[in-house]
Amino acid sequence: MKLSRKERVSGRLKLPGDKSISHRAAMIAALAPGRSIITNFSTALDCSSTLSCLQQLGVQIKRSGNIVEITGAEKFTQPVSALDCGNSGSTMRILAGVLAPQAFSCELTGDSSLNSRPMGRIIEPLELMGAQLISHAGKPPLSIQGAREIQPIVYKLPVASAQVKSAILFAGLGANGRTQVKESSLSRDHTERLFNGFGVAVTTDADLTVTLDGPARLAHGDITIPGDISSAAYFVAAAMMLPGSELTIEDVGLNPTRSEFLSVLSSWGADISTTDLRYERNEPVGTITVRGGIASQLKDSSARRLDKSRIPSLIDELPLLAVVGSQVPGGIEIRDASELRHKESDRLRATAVNLRNMGAEVEEHPDGLSISGPTTLRGASLDSFGDHRIAMSFSVAALNADGASEIRGAECVDISFPEFYKLLHTVVIP
Ligand code: S3P
Repeated sequence: MKLSRKERVSGRLKLPGDKSISHRAAMIAALAPGRSIITNFSTALDCSSTLSCLQQLGVQIKRSGNIVEITGAEKFTQPVSALDCGNSGSTMRILAGVLAPQAFSCELTGDSSLNSRPMGRIIEPLELMGAQLISHAGKPPLSIQGAREIQPIVYKLPVASAQVKSAILFAGLGANGRTQVKESSLSRDHTERLFNGFGVAVTTDADLTVTLDGPARLAHGDITIPGDISSAAYFVAAAMMLPGSELTIEDVGLNPTRSEFLSVLSSWGADISTTDLRYERNEPVGTITVRGGIASQLKDSSARRLDKSRIPSLIDELPLLAVVGSQVPGGIEIRDASELRHKESDRLRATAVNLRNMGAEVEEHPDGLSISGPTTLRGASLDSFGDHRIAMSFSVAALNADGASEIRGAECVDISFPEFYKLLHTVVIP
């Protein structure tokens, strides 16, 4: 994909459904006896992986564009071949929790990126609950033997991970008793909100302990998936970096465990407003309007450091924030983010390599990056590293760089946002 500097972005957008919410809505509908209709289902390839795994498990699914009709059943059938989770960590990790109380064995596999990602984090709690999992030194393919009787657990997450928390909560639906998951920093809470929205009470107390009493049965029902805020992030950042921009994005998910990047961009001088707030099955939805501009000076220097408690709610936006951070006076520092090394690519390295190619000064730490700023970026030959979020972050960087850029392997955007380039071209003003 070839891209070059643009004057500004302008217009109104509506985005396909949120990827994280779509995975969960499909799994909930698959387990809830009866028919559920999911509207604005994500167009991400990752979510198609979830649907095809559920179909292999005997769940009836009809899809017509972004509308998915699922007829659920509490018991699945043993699949005849391995479940292919593609590139999707959420599919593999959360589905492992769904499968833990199903009394059969099956195998979960993925592409070369997914098959190199750590699975010990779900193996430990699901084994404590009574399932048996075999991996290849902690990596996929994973084979799971579901437990006839799954046990409730009280479990402290060693890494803040919504995928692991969700796997335990889905497994806990089948357990006889109280399952509790304790986090040290709040990760995205879609599973908790949707369980409550589909008939299963889940509470989260002030010390971030999530509690679910099993056995519990999910109720079927319909849902319209809010637009994906992580997809919106690329457009918000582009509008912010190009002065004179004005962009409105309608019907976007505004869950606070996902929208922290809006506060970060505001602290760097963006003019962002959210309006029309409403709820869809407990998920906040609204309209984002952003006007271009970066502060010429930061009033509060702590805005330049992203660390600890804020990292889980910024996790997918960090490469993009690194790009915007290269334009912030005094630059930025990202710390406590070693998890980024275990995503679809090593996102700390990928971000550092590409930003340096564009002329930025970047120091790479084991758990983060220090980026000096403001830097005039120059167009360059950039690598997606096969990672959708790297491809989109550096496409945004290219819009604000002198000279032409080429993003190699940009087709990987299909993993989360196949419409990305088409929509980008509708709002950029050359
Ligand atoms: C996700 C959780 C996050 C995020 C991923 C989607 C989810 O991963 O990076 O893109 O849907 O639960 P972790 O839970 O591993 O941090």
